[in-house]
Amino acid sequence: MSPPRESTFLAACRRQAVAHTPIWVMRQAGRYLPEYRELRAKVDFESLTRQPELAAEVTLQPLRRFELDAAILFSDIMTPVQSLGVDLTFEPAPVVRNPIRTDTQIDALHELVPERDVPFVLRSIQLIRPNLPRGVPLIGFAGGPFTLLCYLVSGRPSKEFDVARSFLYAQPQSAERLLDRLADAMAAYLHAQAAAGAQALMLFESWGGLLGPGAFDRFALRAVRRTVAALRRSTDVPLIYYLNQGSALMERVADLDVDVIGVDWRTPLGKVRQVLGPHKAVQGNLDPAALFSSPEDLRRHADEVLREAGRAAREASGDIERSREARGSGEIRAAPGHIFNLGHGIWPNTDPDSVARLVDHVHERTG
Ligand code: CP3
Repeated sequence: MSPPRESTFLAACRRQAVAHTPIWVMRQAGRYLPEYRELRAKVDFESLTRQPELAAEVTLQPLRRFELDAAILFSDIMTPVQSLGVDLTFEPAPVVRNPIRTDTQIDALHELVPERDVPFVLRSIQLIRPNLPRGVPLIGFAGGPFTLLCYLVSGRPSKEFDVARSFLYAQPQSAERLLDRLADAMAAYLHAQAAAGAQALMLFESWGGLLGPGAFDRFALRAVRRTVAALRRSTDVPLIYYLNQGSALMERVADLDVDVIGVDWRTPLGKVRQVLGPHKAVQGNLDPAALFSSPEDLRRHADEVLREAGRAAREASGDIERSREARGSGEIRAAPGHIFNLGHGIWPNTDPDSVARLVDHVHERTG
C-alpha cells in the first residue's frame, strides 16, 4: 500500500516545503461548469446549499475535472445568516427584506447554534470528506463580519455599499454591536465546520477594501480578531483571511493571528510579503480576467505570479542574493508559503479548459 499523499495545500498553509505549488480556485464550484448549470437548471441555488447530497455533489464537480489541491464547501457566506432570524432570500444574490439598521433589530438576532440551525452544512461536510481524492483537504468558510454587515445593512449587493458605510459613521455603536454578534456567530459556525471535518477555514472579507484605515481597524479588523481569537482557542486547523482590494490595508492585517492571507491581483506578491513579513503564507493572486488570454499568455501570466511568490519567499528568508540570481535566470520553483489562486472568484463565462491549463501549468512549472 502506498503511503497517503501529504496535502500540499495544508503544508503550504503552514509554510512547509512542498513538492509543487498547490492551487485551487475561488468559486471553483459554480456556473462556469456545464455540469453545475445542468443541475442548477433543475434545482434552485438555496436548495443546492441545503440538501447535503447536492451540496456534496457540487463541491466535488470541479475535482473530477481538474487536479485541484483543495476543495471548498459549496455554500454561501449568507447561509448561516438566515438562521440568525434574518429574512434573506437568494435571487441568487442575497437580498434582505428588512435590512438591519436599528438596535432593536440587532438585539432580536438569534444566537447561532450550528448543530440546531445549520445541520445540513455539517452533514454536507461529512458527506464530502470520504469522497475527496487522496491528499485533497476540504476548506470550510464564512463571511468576515464586516462583509456580512454590508449585506445585512444594505439589504442587497451594491458596488460601493454606501448605505452600510454611512451606517458605520452614523451609528458606530450599533455597528460594533452588530459586528460583535456576527463575529461570535461565525466563530461558532466555523468551529462546528472544523468539528464536522473541514481541514482549513477561510474568512471572506470581500468588501473590507472599501474602508479607509481607521474604519477598517475599528470595524472590520476588530470584529475579525474576535472571531479568530475564539477559533484559535477551539481548533488547530489553518485559518485563511481573504481581504479583497486590501493592498492599502496589508500592514494592518500583518499581525492578525491567521496562517494565510488571501490577496487580490492589484499588488504583486513580493510587495505583499514585504509588508506581511515571513510568518504568513499568501494565497493568490491571478486576475480572473487572465483566464481569457491565449494558452501561451495564460502560462506567462501564471509564471509572473509564481515568480513574485518565489521572490517573496526568498526575501522573507533573508536570501536576497539567491533572489537576484533567480530573477536573472527566470527560474521558477514552488515557493514555500504560497497557495496559487485567483485574486477573486472565477467569472461565470470562463472556459473550463482554461482552468485545466492553469492548474496543470502551475503543477508542471513548480513540480
Ligand atoms: O466554489 C466556491 O467558492 C464555494 C461556494 C461559494 C459561493 N459563494 C456560492 C455561490 C462561496 C465561497 C461563496 C462566497 C460568497 N458569497 C462571497 C465571498 C466571495 C466573493 O466572491 O467575494 C460573497 C460576497 C457572496 C455573496 C453572494 N452569493 C453573491 C454576491 C451572489 C450573487 C453573485 C454571484 O456570484 O452569482 C451569491 C450567489 C452565489 N453563491 C452563487 C454561487 C455559486 C451563484 C448562484 C447561482 O446562480 O447558481
